[in-house]
Amino acid sequence: MTNLTFDKLPGYIWMNGQFINWSDAKVHVINHAMHYASSVFEGNRAYNGKIFKLEQHTERLFKSAEILDMEIPHSVAEINQACVDILAKQGLKSAYLRPIVWRGSEQMGISAQNTTINVAIAVWEWPSYFSLADTMKGIRLTAAKYRRPAPDTAPFRAKAAGLYMICTLSKHAAEAKGYNDALMLDHQGNIAESTGSNIFFVKNGELHTPDPTSFLDGITRQTVIQLAQQAGIKVVVRDISPSELPSFDECFLCGTAMEIMPVAEIDEHRFTPAGITQQLIEAYIQLHG
Ligand SMILES: Cc1ncc(COP(=O)(O)O)c(C=O)c1O
Repeated sequence: MTNLTFDKLPGYIWMNGQFINWSDAKVHVINHAMHYASSVFEGNRAYNGKIFKLEQHTERLFKSAEILDMEIPHSVAEINQACVDILAKQGLKSAYLRPIVWRGSEQMGISAQNTTINVAIAVWEWPSYFSLADTMKGIRLTAAKYRRPAPDTAPFRAKAAGLYMICTLSKHAAEAKGYNDALMLDHQGNIAESTGSNIFFVKNGELHTPDPTSFLDGITRQTVIQLAQQAGIKVVVRDISPSELPSFDECFLCGTAMEIMPVAEIDEHRFTPAGITQQLIEAYIQLHG
């Protein structure tokens, strides 16, 4: 990664079917997405030049757009190909991809049926920064002030920009207190997830994870469950109260960006990242290649 700011990285961004110079890929200030959060996006990783679980991510992008009432003016196959093409055009092997869909600037107001639906895909370098030994030290979480919205108050299955407002606020508040991330509860006060990844706990050799009934059922979460089951580890999906935190041996977060990330602390609670977390990290690395 260079020292350039993100809007001035070298190379190109795929935007509405064309490669645009990175610094020219702009939108107008009268933009429905910016004013009313009519935007959905994806986060994909490429390892060794191959985009991991590309089809699943693109399917989710289309599902998210549909939930927000936006019809993407491309086929799934075209978006998959565009992801592959922009990765190659940028000449990157270990990278993060950010496909984004948003309502344009043709209409201003809450109602926006006549706006165009735009698509862009940006790709930037994302090497693996940390050794397994460093990763196993674990990160520190603190409780967020905001809860995930109740399932009947927000379209929680969409990876939609609007749902991230409380995530940014929560992560800023955590970082201001010296923590790495925030733990968010659901509307009933059970453990939900962090600001950008799902959460798992280990107890007596079993994995426990919240039921994603009001937050994103991450692609990495689903992969971790499969890897655990293949390894003969029992996975229990259930409501988890914060009062249970003292009873867990290990804890980790998982998501495309942070992969499987051990957690050492949640406020006053301590965990020792150990066997099962490490086994799953190694299986995940093996899988993505
Ligand atoms: C709020 C939130 N939860 C969970 C996840 C994990 O999803 P995935 O594993 O599909 O990246 C993400 C990342 O996309 C996220 O932003």
